[in-house]
Amino acid sequence: MNQDQLKNKVAEAALEYINQKDDLIIGIGTGSTVNAFIELLPTVRNKIRGCVSSSKTSTEKLLTLGFDVLELNHVNELPLYIDGADECDAHNRLIKGGGGALTQEKIIAEAASKFICIVDESKIVPLLGTFPLPIEVIPMARSMVARKMVALGGQPIYRENFITDNGNMIIDVHNLKIIDPIALEQKINQIPGIVTNGLFARRGANTTLIATSSGKIIKQ
Ligand code: 5RP
Repeated sequence: MNQDQLKNKVAEAALEYINQKDDLIIGIGTGSTVNAFIELLPTVRNKIRGCVSSSKTSTEKLLTLGFDVLELNHVNELPLYIDGADECDAHNRLIKGGGGALTQEKIIAEAASKFICIVDESKIVPLLGTFPLPIEVIPMARSMVARKMVALGGQPIYRENFITDNGNMIIDVHNLKIIDPIALEQKINQIPGIVTNGLFARRGANTTLIATSSGKIIKQ
């Protein structure tokens, strides 16, 4: 199966979590795997009260399909969040932010009782860090943050022609040695001007659904 077919397969597998509930408010991530999931949501429409979206792109898609998109501030409980990832290790710790929506994604992951990550097997790694770590920065801090990333052993590259939904910039940090993802996530969070870093280690996924090349789904 090709990668698009695997994305569809794993998106379909995630519907199981919606079928377990009624009147569900569901957090929706961003990216091509999530897009495949959004396309399937009309098949379980009667189970869903509304969605909390992590990006303008996902919001537009949800509204086009006729779903209510709710503000997180207006929601008391968020039982479920479905999102993809750029990398996932054996402990469901993730790198996210390839699509630049990492800040809203991290907020929704924190708010949700259960975070189900959906990936194809190309995203599974023994050690996080081959995918460059996205960092959302306030524009005036970008050079200072870039120097701090060099001091941490990384190679920062500004993401060209990209502004986040929050009006900020993304720096993609290559070649970081991520031996202790929780410690590094917290260390990077301490730097002023950084809004969010793409390590989802302190709050990783509860379960990752992985589509293998044969189309079989593994739950990790
Ligand atoms: C967006 C993300 C996405 O989840 C991540 O980039 C994976 O995207 P895709 O499903 O297109 O491979 O973190 O900010």
